Amino acid sequence: MSDSHSDGFMAAPEPVQPGAVIIYGASGDLTRRKLMPALYNLARDGLLQDAFAVIGTASNDLSDDAFRAHLDETVREHVGEDFDDGVWRWLLERVSYVGGDFHDDDYYGRLGDHITAMDEHWQTGGNHLHYLATPPSLFGDIVARLGAAGVVSRTEEARHRVVIEKPFGHDLESARALNRALLETLNETQIYRIDHYLGKETVQNLLVFRFANAIFEPVWNRSYVDHVQITVAEDLAVGHRAGYYEEAGALRDMVPNHMMQLLSFIAMEPPSSFDAEAVRNNKGDVLKAIQPLSPEDVLTQAVRGQYGPGTMPGGEQAAGYREEPGVRADSPIETYAAMKLQLDNWRWADVPFYLRTGKRMASRQTEILIQFKRVPFMMFSKTPVDHLVPNQLVLRIQPREAILMRFGAKRPGPVVHISNAELEFCYKERFGLPPATGYETLLYDAIRGDATLFQRADSIEAGWGVVAPILDVWSALRPRDFPNYAAGSWGPADAETLLARDGRAWQNLE
Ligand code: BG6
Repeated sequence: MSDSHSDGFMAAPEPVQPGAVIIYGASGDLTRRKLMPALYNLARDGLLQDAFAVIGTASNDLSDDAFRAHLDETVREHVGEDFDDGVWRWLLERVSYVGGDFHDDDYYGRLGDHITAMDEHWQTGGNHLHYLATPPSLFGDIVARLGAAGVVSRTEEARHRVVIEKPFGHDLESARALNRALLETLNETQIYRIDHYLGKETVQNLLVFRFANAIFEPVWNRSYVDHVQITVAEDLAVGHRAGYYEEAGALRDMVPNHMMQLLSFIAMEPPSSFDAEAVRNNKGDVLKAIQPLSPEDVLTQAVRGQYGPGTMPGGEQAAGYREEPGVRADSPIETYAAMKLQLDNWRWADVPFYLRTGKRMASRQTEILIQFKRVPFMMFSKTPVDHLVPNQLVLRIQPREAILMRFGAKRPGPVVHISNAELEFCYKERFGLPPATGYETLLYDAIRGDATLFQRADSIEAGWGVVAPILDVWSALRPRDFPNYAAGSWGPADAETLLARDGRAWQNLE
């Protein structure tokens, strides 16, 4: 994440240094929908140099031209309006393709020769970003074979970087095994683990909001904060990913990764700089401070749910999860997970963090709510303290990207009557959000070698460590009440109880 600008005094971001991006699994969806449109957007913004090449590689046997044609069809559509043909042609000229089988040693030799030829042709200076857009089960093997063929090597200055994207393992053990396998070939500084939530502007802004403003930090602690809610609600079903989801479930799919990222940005201590290690150390400290749940805690502090048929708010009749194509008729997989976590540190002791995520919920809503403590005493007559909504700060990540402050205000009139009022900052109205895939900053940073927004091995393992006790208990005890929420609702009743027991309630989007 570049820290070179401030409003009114804006240093233009620097173009990346010469280099090549090699995309594995390049015939897949991610390349067409995200990676190539993101590279196009970077090129359009003048952030790529002439000395730049993109090498696509996958099992299909394609010529360079056939691969370019395949990209051309879909990228235009994904970039949408204002498509600049000149920029796209500039980028396509730099695109080439190598077909081959990732399990075949000869392939890696051919790929290495091709990369060398492109280095010479485009003067890339030998800087390579290897982007593994392949099934995760191949990550370890591909990196080992790239290492054996000398295509990547352990370089201190990290001229060879490897990008991988979640899932990083299936549980703590497999995540550790994957990290160990990668570290046999590469240094940790060469591994860029993507969490696409960190590509979202609103998530990146959490750091700026907290640490570039003096007024929030003094109240950002247990003295003023009553509790925090982190909601990642989706209205969609699992779509064509039932095969994956039947193995994963909501907990694995969202919590150790995306939700832990949000939690650590909200709860971290101010870093001494925006240097990657400083930020990542402080984020890691948050995950390490989460109180481990005992099996008994899991029964009271974690809730799972699975949706049954229901009516979506727009009137659409939605099938239950067990009726979705590719899902077992008696599936025990959770499509909803909620939990209460506590942090053992000075800033957050006794402040509960409530997390929830689910599919087929009443609306798409990703937000973080900071609820402040009530005023200790209300001096206006007939206005009991507990009738007022305490101050709330809501950081809306998506779909409406905004920051909202709720406070009490005097309603006009001769009698003092207090109502709840809101101040809202909306990103789009203020800055006019540019079309972006969410991968621009991540690619830009990975090519430049800025790892601030990428995850280190220790935080991946810490994230899995947090959910490990829940996974253990849930896999040992088959759910007896599934389905326990209707599609189009806000989740199972037990999740309401989780907060109600503490005298609190989830804040749903009105
Ligand atoms: C992915 C999960 O990582 O994140 C999906 O595998 C989920 O199940 C998606 O739908 C949510 O991402 P976003 O950006 O739409 O909030």
